[in-house]
Amino acid sequence: MKLKSLLAAGLTLAMLAGCSSSTPAADDGAKEDEGSAAAEAKTYNVGVAIYQFNDNFMTLYRNEIESYFASKETDEVKYNVTIVDGKNDMAEQSNQIDSFITQGMDVIILNLVQTSSADSIIDKVVGAGIPLVLINREPLGDNGDESYTRILDNPTVCYVGADARQSGTYQGEIIAELADHGDINGDGKVSYVMIEGDPENVDAQYRTEYSIKALEDAGIEVECLDDQVGNWDQTKGQEIAANALTQYGDAVEVIFCNNDAMALGAAASITAANRTVGEDIYLVGVDALDECVEMVNKGTMTGTVLNDAKGQADTAVDVAIDLLNGKSIQNYYWVDYVKVVKE
Ligand code: GAL
Repeated sequence: MKLKSLLAAGLTLAMLAGCSSSTPAADDGAKEDEGSAAAEAKTYNVGVAIYQFNDNFMTLYRNEIESYFASKETDEVKYNVTIVDGKNDMAEQSNQIDSFITQGMDVIILNLVQTSSADSIIDKVVGAGIPLVLINREPLGDNGDESYTRILDNPTVCYVGADARQSGTYQGEIIAELADHGDINGDGKVSYVMIEGDPENVDAQYRTEYSIKALEDAGIEVECLDDQVGNWDQTKGQEIAANALTQYGDAVEVIFCNNDAMALGAAASITAANRTVGEDIYLVGVDALDECVEMVNKGTMTGTVLNDAKGQADTAVDVAIDLLNGKSIQNYYWVDYVKVVKE
């Protein structure tokens, strides 16, 4: 960790000083040799725009982007990676992209704040001749998935992500596969509360839809007691769960959360309401944050679904490097989700 912070600090200092590893300070004779070797190194400028730093999953993702780029450096090739925080504000992110263009980034990795702005952002990046790797928030085309023309028609634009339908399906299956299929009170139906991520985000839409579809496909009757937007946020998840538990009490059998951050919040409210996961209520999330995997193993969460931050970040970096090397790329790259339940 320490080494990484030092590395990051070193990078930042190098960036602030407007220099790169191709112009090292040769302060003694011994270093001159290193200096001339490094002078031959090619430094690529990489701009990474994240929708919001204050997001548990995207924090894992961006840290992995940074360390994986660092691991790909050689004596000949360096990556000068600049990562910016869109603060969940599309206007702010649009300015950041303008600034990446002005700075002459060699490639951009973009986690859009709003996929509805994808057209205009992609047009300006492509117009500037910069290759673009979209991550995490998939802009859908007229025919849904894998049909977005700006990805299909531009050989230097692609999307790296995970199919959110799969994560929703796994959430539903986790409940359907329980001995009582989620019907704790035996009234013949599963009464649930849904806590949704940002509704503009296809991950939230698909997880909400496909978790319930999986139950129905298993022949289980469902009843929605409450469905609220928690915007991927732990505190909101906690509030929504607390209100639902107060309003519907023992009738709540399952709380579905579109991500683990909101499930962590819901878990706190479940405890505060003197309810016990695995006994009188079930709780599922998505992401498989370390603390949630621990909770699943302890039984304080019923299950989660691994959203592979490392797999997606490494794929995005590999594709960005391919683009820097002028290699041809695919339009879409998919990384699988994995169901996580107690061993
Ligand atoms: C989802 C992830 C959420 C949140 C969101 C941001 O894939 O499960 O926790 O990070 O992306 O777009």
